[in-house]
Order: sequence, then C-alpha cells, then structure tokens
Amino acid sequence: MLKISKNFNPSENFNLVNNDAFCVFADIPTGYADHVITDPPYNISGYDNKKEIGWVKSNKYWTDDKKFTKIEENWDKFSDSDYDKFTELWLNEIFRIVKPNGNIMIFGTYHNIYKIGALLQKYDKKIINSITWFKRNAFPNITQRMLCESTEYVIWAVNNNQKKAKNWTFNYNKLKDINIIKICKKCKRNVEQRYAYCGNCGNTDFSVKKTQMRNLWDIPSTPTNERKYGKHPSQKPVEVIERLVTGMTNENDIIIDPFMGSGTVPLVAKSLNRKFIGIDNDENYCELARKRIINDHKQEKLSI
Ligand SMILES: C[S@@+](CC[C@H](N)C(=O)[O-])C[C@H]1O[C@@H](n2cnc3c(N)ncnc32)[C@H](O)[C@@H]1O
Repeated sequence: MLKISKNFNPSENFNLVNNDAFCVFADIPTGYADHVITDPPYNISGYDNKKEIGWVKSNKYWTDDKKFTKIEENWDKFSDSDYDKFTELWLNEIFRIVKPNGNIMIFGTYHNIYKIGALLQKYDKKIINSITWFKRNAFPNITQRMLCESTEYVIWAVNNNQKKAKNWTFNYNKLKDINIIKICKKCKRNVEQRYAYCGNCGNTDFSVKKTQMRNLWDIPSTPTNERKYGKHPSQKPVEVIERLVTGMTNENDIIIDPFMGSGTVPLVAKSLNRKFIGIDNDENYCELARKRIINDHKQEKLSI
C-alpha cells in the first residue's frame, strides 16, 4: 500500500512525501539517489512588471471573447532574485543527493531554462544534451506579438565536472526500441509513428524501422486520459517521461523528483521497475500522484 508521508523513509523503495522539498532534502543521505528528473516551478505566474499582460488587451487584435489560460499558481510566483536563490539552493541539494555521474534532467521553458543551464555551467557539470519537446498542439498565442511558444526543454547533465564525468547511464538501444519511425514507401521520408499519412506526399503506405532517438521530441501536450484522477496545471505527458526514464536510468535505480506535481515521474518510474522519491508540498497533488500510481502505473500509455 503506497502511503503519503511527511518524511523521507530510507527503508521504503517508493517514497511519496508531502512536504517542502528543502525540509525533505535534509533527511536524504549524500549520494542516495541515482538520478533526478524534475520539472521545477518556472516562475511564469504573477503579474509583476515584466510579466504584466494588461497590454494584451490594448492589442488591436484583442477581442474580449478570446479566451486564454495562463499558469497562475502561488507555488510558481517568485521575484526574480528569489527565484535565482531558490533554483541555486535546490540544485545544490540535488548535486549532493545524486550519486557522482548520476543523470540530472531538468525541465524548463525560455523563462527559466537559461538560468538553470548557467547554474549547471557555474558548477562545472557536464551537459550531455538539451532536448526540445515540441508540442504540436500547444495553446495558440493570443497576443499576436510573438511566435506561438510550442516547446519546452530538458537539460540533461551528469553529476560530475566536465573533465571527470564518465560512465553515465545511456540506454541507446532501449531508446531505439521505442523510437519506431515509418518510412513512406513513395518518397522515402521518415514519418513519426503517430501520423497516419506522409506529411511530404500524403502517401499512407509505410514500412517501419527502429531508429536512433534524436533530441527533438514531437509529442502532444498531456492527453485527457492521463488526467482522469484530477488536474495539475503543468502535468507532463507519460510519453515524455518514459523516454527519460528508459534512456537515462536502469531498473532498480532510485529516481528523485523534488517537485513531482501529479506524480508523472514516480508513476513512470514504478511502471518501469525503478524506485522513486517523489516530493510535493501540496497535499492535493500528492494524493493525485498516489491515485495515479496505484491505479494506473500499468495502464497509462507506456509503450514498453
Ligand atoms: C511544474 S510542477 C510539476 C508537475 C509535474 N511534472 C507533473 O507531471 O505533474 C511543480 C510542482 O512543484 C511543487 N512545489 C513548488 N515548490 C515546492 C517546494 N518548495 N517543495 C515541494 N514542492 C514544491 C508545486 O506544488 C508543483 O506541483
């Protein structure tokens, strides 16, 4: 029976902890976790000066019946300087808790990803890849003053300095096994598995092959069937997390996610026989994560 606790318990393989991550970090021994996969607050909520959106309504294209959603959560509101301190503090805890040469995978958008990248470089961590997650169905941009933002990023780094980093986990063939591409029989172009026809020539006749995983992931936003136990405003799709867990961790590894939200990382970790420490300071999100893990860890759309 998976329980939510207030504290980390080293005798459990699956820790769901409802507490402030900084309180929990103190109890986790140095080098305890094999890897971190996390999606921290991006600091995109709030209406302070630089995020003021009042001007949107002065846009001549604006009409009141246009609806838009924006993340507006207290856990995502920081001043810029507080956000910088928060990010550096949790990253340093992660550098301590993750084993040397363990993988560090962190989500972000243009709002925060450069700060995270700069901190990884400041602490001389070996950056392996940045992954671009392309959300083909991303919410349209209503301001008409910029390109429609349709991507998020994952920085993949190793918990060691650039010269010493070695033997990090990378399951090249396992990623290849889940990266099945269709090849159009007419024009020979590659087509993602999910598409029914060739975007180049419209042909529907394909051959299939497994191919090496690239760092551009064309995966739609979280589907509704992954939200059946409740909603989280920034829930990540199982398919994105599945690629990270499959490729950059091994069975029985311990994966920590200090900002687990609806629990997508623990859910996929359990499904793929990894152990986890999932932390969130919101009890409703912890309960949502618990429900998803106990009910759906085998049923959610895992391709392996
Ligand atoms: C971007 S969301 C993560 C969403 C998650 N990846 C998912 O798939 O649902 C960040 C989460 O961090 C939590 N959080 C923010 N500050 C925290 C803190 N100091 N300690 C623990 N959790 C925190 C929030 O409650 C929120 O659920």
